[in-house]
Amino acid sequence: MTRETQVRTADLIAPLFLCEGSGQKQPIASMPDVYRFSVDAAVEEAKALQALKIPAVLLFGVPSEDKKDAVGKEAWSDSGLVQQALTAMREQAPELVLIADACFCEYTDHGHCGVLNANKEVHNDRTLENLARTAVSQARAGADLIAPSGMMDGMVRAIREALDKEGFGETGILSYAAKYSSVFYGPFRDAAESAPSFGDRRQYQMDYHNIREAVREAELDVKEGADLVMVKPALAYMDVIRAVREAVRVPLVAYNVSGEYAMVKAAAERGWIDEKRAALEITTGIKRAGADLIITYWARQLADWLEEAPAEATAKAKDKKQEHSARAKPAKAGARA
Ligand code: PBG
Repeated sequence: MTRETQVRTADLIAPLFLCEGSGQKQPIASMPDVYRFSVDAAVEEAKALQALKIPAVLLFGVPSEDKKDAVGKEAWSDSGLVQQALTAMREQAPELVLIADACFCEYTDHGHCGVLNANKEVHNDRTLENLARTAVSQARAGADLIAPSGMMDGMVRAIREALDKEGFGETGILSYAAKYSSVFYGPFRDAAESAPSFGDRRQYQMDYHNIREAVREAELDVKEGADLVMVKPALAYMDVIRAVREAVRVPLVAYNVSGEYAMVKAAAERGWIDEKRAALEITTGIKRAGADLIITYWARQLADWLEEAPAEATAKAKDKKQEHSARAKPAKAGARA
């Protein structure tokens, strides 16, 4: 009754990885209980998540090697994995908020998050042009929110302008505003086959020694038109979540990333930690730090673990109430007579 923080199913966003083919549900070695789904299987998963009252999914495309190239143009193909999934889910899981991750590392043959220049560094502004194309294609396919995760400067403005110009003024932007260059993305890069083939992402992702910079990034993104902002990762960044929470007025999303999930899974497999209790404590901590919404690979299981009153119990309680009043009325009438 006196709890200050309560994680609810309604706070959770479930990431989904999409692969080619049909009927596919491929396990990911470093992320137990997380799968790469072909579009048809992902739609079934989305329907199950909707039935569990999870409000949103975040979609990542993992195309086959032959679809990758130097610029990642498969990302803005109208028949890309994310676009196909958006169209099908829009139809078959109409209550879900559909969030499309917009980045290029899963689509480029070098694994970096954009177009490279002659020095093999990501060219910020040429990447923005492709990001705008990708966002428009995702919006056309049915995305509610575009979530740029590449940490390019000016990415929110570029997407906002492109969406407005193409008539998608209602499509929102969830910006990965403060995304740190982090070792905790390791298992994701397995899942998404998106590890950079050379170098690292420190040119565009943030230095984890900094916090004021995160606040500045979030404020800039809000000015550029972000509807929600994100801090990522979550666990080593609770202070950043709090600082951003206090600086901006838009909803704040925290990404409980793959490495944070894998550590608990690995310890749980060895009997060293209780997974359910760890997941509940971690997500509650993230919310207590100031996040409104949490992207987590535990979303589906948490819907069960959170022990919110199930729909049947609520329905039963209602029936009982009606029974009571039905019985009580004639008796009262009799007493008065
Ligand atoms: C792609 C992207 C990454 C994650 C989300 N989008 C990886 C990266 O930047 O290397 C990480 C998510 C996770 O670890 O769960 N830009």
